[in-house]
Amino acid sequence: MTTVLHSGISSVPMPAFSEELPYPRRKRSHHDAIMPLQPLCDGTGTLGEHLKDRIADPQPRAIYLHIPFCRRICHFCNMRRMKGSPESHYADLLIREMEAVTRIPYVRDGMYGAVYFGGGTPSTLSTPDLQRVLQALRTHFNLTDDVEITLESSLSDLDEDKLKAVMAEGVNRLSLGVQTFHDRGRRLLGRLGDGDWVKARVRRFRDLGLDNLGMDLIYHYPMQSDGELAHDLAAIAELDLAGFSLYSLMIREKSRLAHEHMAHAAQTPQTLAREWQLFSRILEAGQRQGFEVLELTKMVKPGRDRYRYVALRYQGGDTLPLGAGAGGRLAGMMLMNPLALDAYTQGLESVTGREGMTTRPPYDALYRFIGAIQFGRVTLEPVPEAAHGALLKRCEQLVDQALLTPLKDGCYPLTPKGIFWGNNLAAELAGCVMEHL
Ligand SMILES: C[S@@+](CC[C@H](N)C(=O)[O-])C[C@H]1O[C@@H](n2cnc3c(N)ncnc32)[C@H](O)[C@@H]1O
Ligand code: SF4
Repeated sequence: MTTVLHSGISSVPMPAFSEELPYPRRKRSHHDAIMPLQPLCDGTGTLGEHLKDRIADPQPRAIYLHIPFCRRICHFCNMRRMKGSPESHYADLLIREMEAVTRIPYVRDGMYGAVYFGGGTPSTLSTPDLQRVLQALRTHFNLTDDVEITLESSLSDLDEDKLKAVMAEGVNRLSLGVQTFHDRGRRLLGRLGDGDWVKARVRRFRDLGLDNLGMDLIYHYPMQSDGELAHDLAAIAELDLAGFSLYSLMIREKSRLAHEHMAHAAQTPQTLAREWQLFSRILEAGQRQGFEVLELTKMVKPGRDRYRYVALRYQGGDTLPLGAGAGGRLAGMMLMNPLALDAYTQGLESVTGREGMTTRPPYDALYRFIGAIQFGRVTLEPVPEAAHGALLKRCEQLVDQALLTPLKDGCYPLTPKGIFWGNNLAAELAGCVMEHL
């Protein structure tokens, strides 16, 4: 029997991989899903002009703080980061930025329900610097009483004292970059420490009483065996995690892994079948362990991790970007701070002069439409009526292809196969809507 989980994503036995691929390539990133919305991007404007005379609405927003430093660079990663540790000066800059942006009434008067420290590796900031930044957030912004504050961290840049100190300042969600517990996998990905060391550290952090503690898992890395995946799934079962993200390895051209393993990036029916096998085993094991799929790349224990930061973003809430290399969106304007520290510092002289990309309707509505797909359901509610007919027709075909389950209460929940192809589905359906506007 099919049971529909809280998130709307169906929990069903995993079907075998079908040779008939619904799409020739698997899109693995949500950035791919929003590409079809590009024609709704109007051009550039300044933040000051865009927010002038705009009044803050009560919809909770998120704050994204980017800490673009890593002590060492992993073999697979080409995120917006640089090698090194932040000096105290970086925390000063973040606080200066908070002071500057909150001079804009629209930013100052909003309510903020989630704060996310991402990177890079935010835990490379020293304990006093993290404390100062957390305190400054409370000073400058209206944080909701139930604000979710997430810290992303590697295992090696965090210790119990640092974690205790940030918990005392309000951090209530920790996302640990584990990637894999398997020693060969760890060496291949360029991660420090062996699997036993990782497990011991996760246990020690968990013992401090932080309930919402989760981790990132990478699967489908070169030559990953069934045994290696089973090792990871057993370790997840042992640790009392609130949730975990599951990322299929993307080999990016400029990463170190690309030198020896670029061929692994090719997508063929055989590699996709293997990717599906690993993915479906993770979903099955996760469900057996009491996790449910919250979002295309996230399994959580019900009630323990709502991942409010991503939920707010996908519901169309603003995200205020802070820090070098941070990206966000305010009142429909997309923003990206420069990653280079000089340019970022210089930009603090005039935050109202920052340039962003403006969008026009129905960009926001379609962003919410794509956001709902990320959370496991195709819903017609945000879609302009002119596109309903075409969208319904396509969704019925996708039901026949076993990517969606039949329409119920105004939405089509994704099947496990639909979750696997979720970014393709989102991009295709967004494209379908765009054609019929
Ligand atoms: C910005 S990183 C921050 C985590 C932290 N710096 C760490 O690595 O411990 C967020 C996550 O993105 C995932 N990630 C980064 N590059 C990836 C890639 N090329 N393919 C798949 N997942 C990737 C990793 O799981 C990583 O933990
Ligand atoms: S995976 Fe994390 S620690 Fe490794 S280089 Fe990327 S951001 Fe830095």
